Amino acid sequence: MRSRVLSGMRPTGALHLGHYHGALKNWVRLQEEHDCFYFVADWHALTTHYDEREVIEQSVYEMVIDWIAAGLDPDKSTIFIQSRLPEHAELFTLLAMGTPLGWLERVPTYKDQIEKLKDRDLATYGFLGYPLLQAADILIYKATYVPVGEDQSSHIELTREVARRFNHLYGRGHDFEARVAATRARLSKDDQRYYDKQRKAFGETGAADAWAKGEALVRRAAAALPGWSDADTELLLGHLRGSGRSVLVEPQALHTEVLRLPGLDGSKMSKSYGNAILMRDEPAEVERKVRGMVTDPARVRRTDPGNPEKCPVWDFHKVYSDDATRDWVWTGCTTAGIGCLECKQPVIDAIVKQQQPWRERAAALTADPKKVHWIVEMGTERARTVARQTMKDVREAIGLGY
Ligand code: TRP
Ligand code: SF4
Repeated sequence: MRSRVLSGMRPTGALHLGHYHGALKNWVRLQEEHDCFYFVADWHALTTHYDEREVIEQSVYEMVIDWIAAGLDPDKSTIFIQSRLPEHAELFTLLAMGTPLGWLERVPTYKDQIEKLKDRDLATYGFLGYPLLQAADILIYKATYVPVGEDQSSHIELTREVARRFNHLYGRGHDFEARVAATRARLSKDDQRYYDKQRKAFGETGAADAWAKGEALVRRAAAALPGWSDADTELLLGHLRGSGRSVLVEPQALHTEVLRLPGLDGSKMSKSYGNAILMRDEPAEVERKVRGMVTDPARVRRTDPGNPEKCPVWDFHKVYSDDATRDWVWTGCTTAGIGCLECKQPVIDAIVKQQQPWRERAAALTADPKKVHWIVEMGTERARTVARQTMKDVREAIGLGY
């Protein structure tokens, strides 16, 4: 079975090359091997832009167009909008009941963002709950992997803690022991002994290898025994762990190595700093922007040699150029053999070339808004099927089945 991947992006403006290289490129790659769910995190955008919702409204479908233009395939990936699934809010509410305030106050992004976005009032209940809402987004799809930037690792860690706590509090149904016994009895006698041994070792010492051995055994049984279900696997893993059935799945962050693509001024690329190249900038605009990019500040005159390590254009060459071009840049720069405009030309050409299919796909979609709406509609319904099932399990586990 393909493991599930889930990620979201906030709709706060047109996407730029930083979004592409930092996230989207990876999303596109993942859809070949995983069951991918990608959504527009419009509620998350509201936590910071609650008084500027126009930006959000304008960006929702534009962002979906950028995604598809970059190569997300709606036949492979499920694309949807968070606010169309009130189930996320229901899970958020239920998780909120047992989540200690301190867990949220201690998430490093909380104070950082309040500090950074001084012009906004983020002393809100919604903003404190940001990572918990994110946890609900992830847990409701029982995602295995969450591709996110390093800045989000504390949110994934919180998600894991919240899931663990939920499973601990509500994971044991009234007939848990009886079901474990029945499922365990389907293993061979030797396997039963081995399973018990690993469970004991894990319970006593928490040894990771005991857990790994026990888990491997259960997975082997799952693959080998006819009629074995995912629920059987969960049951035995829950018993192995000592926490009961895992209703919610602890996800893992997927941080892929990201080549840092700086903005035109050398600082982080961001639309609000005005230093971004947009995914859908026209060729002339790309040319203008790159020609205006800052270079090694020590290279004042054409005859001064430069140091590529001190130049943001070099970071672009690392992403966009082949070895031969990079050698040409390195030698040319350090010996003052080439000028900076000359050096920038291959970058301009490569970006324009990369954007060509994006522009074409985006133009086709812009001309056919019904199609984009339909894609999102289909994705939303697909997501709803999964989210509803999880909520059924969750309500039942908590005891809200009345
Ligand atoms: N917080 C994420 C960001 O700023 C966006 C997001 C919201 C998200 N919900 C998510 C990412 C769930 C991954 C999974 O980038
Ligand atoms: Fe930067 Fe290229 Fe100019 Fe060197 S030649 S300073 S790498 S733009």
